[in-house]
Amino acid sequence: MRTTQLDLFDADQPPDLRGLRAESPVHHDPATGLWLVSRHADVRAVLADPEAFHPDNALTAITPVPRPVLRVLARAGFSLPPTLANNGTPTHTALRRLVAGFLTPARVASFADRIADLCAERLVDGPVDLHASLARDLPCVVLMEVLGIRDVDVPALKAWSTASLELFWGNPSVDRQHELAASAGEFHRWLTTRLRAASPAGDDLFGALVARGTPVREAAGLCYFLLIAGQETTTQLLSTLLDRVLRHPDVWHRLSLDEPGLAAACVEEVLRREPPVTTWRRLTSRPVELSGVRLPAGAPLLLMLTGTDPEVFADPESFCPGRPDARKHLAFGYGRHFCLGAGLARLEGEVVLRTVARRFPALRLASVEPPPMLNLLSFRAPLSVPVV
Ligand code: HEM
Repeated sequence: MRTTQLDLFDADQPPDLRGLRAESPVHHDPATGLWLVSRHADVRAVLADPEAFHPDNALTAITPVPRPVLRVLARAGFSLPPTLANNGTPTHTALRRLVAGFLTPARVASFADRIADLCAERLVDGPVDLHASLARDLPCVVLMEVLGIRDVDVPALKAWSTASLELFWGNPSVDRQHELAASAGEFHRWLTTRLRAASPAGDDLFGALVARGTPVREAAGLCYFLLIAGQETTTQLLSTLLDRVLRHPDVWHRLSLDEPGLAAACVEEVLRREPPVTTWRRLTSRPVELSGVRLPAGAPLLLMLTGTDPEVFADPESFCPGRPDARKHLAFGYGRHFCLGAGLARLEGEVVLRTVARRFPALRLASVEPPPMLNLLSFRAPLSVPVV
């Protein structure tokens, strides 16, 4: 087993979860200082106990940011105060409620036809990379519409958000950190400008934050996280979904015939087996014991969200859309911070899969080789999905 020499940023060798669960379910990684928690029951127990396990480190840069790079961020007024994912204080409840108002099940469902139209517009005949032509920008366009945010330069927003993911969850060199910080700073400045110009009477997220009297620093921090989390993850889901389902031509054929429930089942199975958010962090608030390992207060934990624990899922490595217990996965977290966009992400996955399969029943991957992968501490997905 390779648990003693883990490289959490190695795209070709993701952590050996089976080995970790069996031999070292709460494993200290000296390279990052993180404690890797890999058993489903432990991960769920941690997420379910916000008193013993705080979310404060959820958005902390895993590669330390040196002072000159911090100055780049500071000059842009950049800060990430506790708002949603990184907020263990009582202010979390009201901010969560405000954002949830934009993501009610009825509101999300009302976007189904729009998602199908946006998907259909992006489908062309001939060889194409479905990551670049479809998965990359569709979730961003959808999110802006769901949040009522208009006049957005989508390519710029995508560039800012991919840079931010790498800055906070990647392992960049110092030169690269400078570039990424400049981009993150630009994004933050744009948010601040938009928030300052927002009307409290507006029906958009910026207006709602202003109407509530949210200080600009807090509002910008919230929007920074939400505008990244609300679309980069779904881009990753769409790419993984298309790549993996296309590796099962029988499933693709059944999807093209519109078999009821199959698209939703494929989405769930991909979320379980290869979630876009592979890990999430917590911090112990007091000494605790997990799977027999004693942890001190202040221990940073890396929770493994991939749903392949054989204690929970039979034959966990197999791709079996429709397995009865698929929804037990933790791809959207659990408890107080459970993902607010789970319904929207599921809908986007389902509608896109159905739309593409119906339009191209004979679609296949251009190559059976594994695709190049995005591999950050917490995010993993194909970077291209070439098809013919
Ligand atoms: C496949 C796509 C997505 C995945 C895999 C995903 C995953 C996650 C995970 C693992 C968490 C942390 C949960 C926890 O700490 O227990 C989270 C939180 C969150 N997600 Fe998502 N997410 C996705 C899409 C979205 C979308 C589309 C939105 C918004 C429209 C969104 C908004 C949020 C927010 C606001 C939080 C923080 C909630 C809180 O702290 O109260 N996510 N997500």
